[in-house]
Amino acid sequence: MLMGVMMNLPVRPRRNRKSAAMRGLMRETTLSAANLIYPMFVQDGDENTPIESLPGCTRWCVADIAAECRRLYELGIPCVDLFAVVPEHKKDAQGTEAWNPQGVVPRAIAAIKAEVPEMLVMTDVALDPFNTYGQDGIVREYEDGSYEILNDETVEALCRQALCHARAGADVISPSDMMDGRIAALRAALDAEGFTGVSLLSYTAKYASAYYGPFRGALGSAPKFGDKKTYQMDPANVREAVREALLDSAEGADMLMVKPATLYLDVVSELRRHTQLPIAAYHVSGEYLMLKAAAASGWLDERSCMLEALLSIRRAGADMILTYAAPQVAEWLREEE
Ligand code: PBG
Repeated sequence: MLMGVMMNLPVRPRRNRKSAAMRGLMRETTLSAANLIYPMFVQDGDENTPIESLPGCTRWCVADIAAECRRLYELGIPCVDLFAVVPEHKKDAQGTEAWNPQGVVPRAIAAIKAEVPEMLVMTDVALDPFNTYGQDGIVREYEDGSYEILNDETVEALCRQALCHARAGADVISPSDMMDGRIAALRAALDAEGFTGVSLLSYTAKYASAYYGPFRGALGSAPKFGDKKTYQMDPANVREAVREALLDSAEGADMLMVKPATLYLDVVSELRRHTQLPIAAYHVSGEYLMLKAAAASGWLDERSCMLEALLSIRRAGADMILTYAAPQVAEWLREEE
């Protein structure tokens, strides 16, 4: 015991942590509702159904999603990202429902823009909810049972889908497919129709992750066979993410995304060092569900663990976070003000 002994210690980092006010002065990173993007699911019909695999989330009908967006905007959430729930009978091999102007996404965009024009509406562009394969692109099957996801044919389909969303009033198009060259092609297609003000948020480094399970459950969009490893990235790689980021910047992306988020914080910080573009990170369904499930069983404190997870994503260098916790987090942050 150092009874009565004063250490000769001129440098004491604890001085900077001695009170809430002092800690506030030193704080390097903040989390605010202004950083959040809320992914939302929209379906046909006139019912809102809770999503079992994503507690707290809902499949919204077009009639009610707009009023919910008003509430979210008033909570301080500036942007929503729309995903289509597509009934099996509307799926085909090509995924043609993806560019149907009467589809559920274009109708939801128009409804939200009419109700709350200030809300930024972002849309997911990829074919997996729309084709019978549950693959993000156009599939060619071969006699021997093997198959291929066709790149250039897919990019053409994605351009159709993006134009359909832009015509309905989307502010941001967010391609989640990982095909090569789609950013340049989407930019050219949008500009050719005069949509020079529509932004592109590229899923730049989207990994072939096992943590998308609850999302695929929500949409019924799991691949019918095979996996997504010929287009989504290998979780072992980080240099490849930088390569994708440099390509996306050169092709004209406005923002880049890393997905998943908390398991890939090194990728976020690596992209932060290599590009000047704003960076988004997607705290995906599995990352969300792990915290919700642990909190539901009483083992973790939901509020502090969720806020800590999201803060860590900001600390790694992300400007924006896509999270299913956005409405709840916005409420918590408001209480702390
Ligand atoms: C599909 C898409 C996926 C997610 C967003 N867009 C799933 C996938 O690639 O299989 C996952 C989101 C999540 O897990 O929260 N284009």
